[in-house]
Amino acid sequence: MKNKTITTVELFAGIGGFRLACDRLGIQTIWANDINELAATVYRDRFRETEFVRGDIQSFKHLVPNHNLLTAGFPCQPFSSAGKKQGITDPKGTLFATIVEILHEKQPQFFVLENVKRLLSMDAGRHFGTILHALTELGYFLEWRLLNAMHFGLPQYRERTIIVGTKKSFTPSCYLATDEDLCTVSDRILSEITQFQNWWPITKHGKKFPTWGLAYQKKFYGITFKDFQNRFPTKRLKDVLQKDVDARFDFTEDTQKRLLQSTKVNRFYNSVEIIYNQKGGSRMGYTVFGIHGVAPTLTSTTSRHYERYSINGRFRRLTDVEYARIQGFPDHHCHLAPLYDRYALYGNAVPPAMVYWVIDRIINQKITKIESNFPVQMALFG
Ligand SMILES: C[S@@+](CC[C@H](N)C(=O)[O-])C[C@H]1O[C@@H](n2cnc3c(N)ncnc32)[C@H](O)[C@@H]1O
Repeated sequence: MKNKTITTVELFAGIGGFRLACDRLGIQTIWANDINELAATVYRDRFRETEFVRGDIQSFKHLVPNHNLLTAGFPCQPFSSAGKKQGITDPKGTLFATIVEILHEKQPQFFVLENVKRLLSMDAGRHFGTILHALTELGYFLEWRLLNAMHFGLPQYRERTIIVGTKKSFTPSCYLATDEDLCTVSDRILSEITQFQNWWPITKHGKKFPTWGLAYQKKFYGITFKDFQNRFPTKRLKDVLQKDVDARFDFTEDTQKRLLQSTKVNRFYNSVEIIYNQKGGSRMGYTVFGIHGVAPTLTSTTSRHYERYSINGRFRRLTDVEYARIQGFPDHHCHLAPLYDRYALYGNAVPPAMVYWVIDRIINQKITKIESNFPVQMALFG
């Protein structure tokens, strides 16, 4: 299939992180949805040719057209505890259940879901188990991986769980783990991956899931790779800063005073430079970040908009344009939204560069073969 003929729908579209990745790949976004008014304003302004429906997806799921690729950075909602004994929970009535209904109805060849890191560990793994279980029940072959934006040329420590589903039959191959990753695991593990009969029933896992894995027909195999930290060149925060930032982004005098109650630490944690730390909890002092590492995870919550940075001898918060650059969006992508709302829109978004890597691997069949000649098909279907 040529990329130009591939169509996609973007659920929970926000400001179009998946959309930008798909545009770069020549994939046509034909339908998008989000409940948020500002996200709708930004999306409609930036991507005029796409049909964007604003509102609760649960009321508009019947409008989703046929498509080849479904993408969704869906909100994380707790599932009900019914069925806990079986190691999974009940997603009925949740937004995830709506995604499952749409996949069931539309049967796209591929999907890519994005969520927070915590998805792997919530409710002692039951939450993620429920997700894998439901998606494999639809007949998809799944692969998931925890990815970090800083490995995709962005100056941000942002870990996200990505799940991809493909309509292929079981083959011992994958998209999200490269040859380089598989070199870090033993031959014994490689051979185990190829033996579907030895995969673990999802319902029996009962703990946090590893950072990479495959799932099929209610069974999975997962590994936490030792190291994929330095695979991609890391941009640092100093590389994306704006020059001549005006004074409204500076710390207030009050804040400067409170800074005196902070502890100087000057260290790097998760590649983030920390210059001062809060002393004695949130009421005393401040955490102040430096610019020689990457930014901490940008979020959508208001208090974090005031994250404090020490930038070339000045104490200030980041600008909305710097937020856009840290996430890999065009500088003025959200210009129609009020200044302070832009932070939340960027903070909520998926970094296009990260999902570009994922979708490119799937669409352009960049497959890592685990063992090309293993008779797994026979083991499964024979
Ligand atoms: C994590 S954000 C996804 C952001 C998006 N991937 C991007 O790049 O901007 C989740 C989105 O789901 C939307 N949302 C939450 N509940 C919804 C619902 N019931 N129907 C449709 N969209 C919803 C929110 O408005 C938010 O934009």
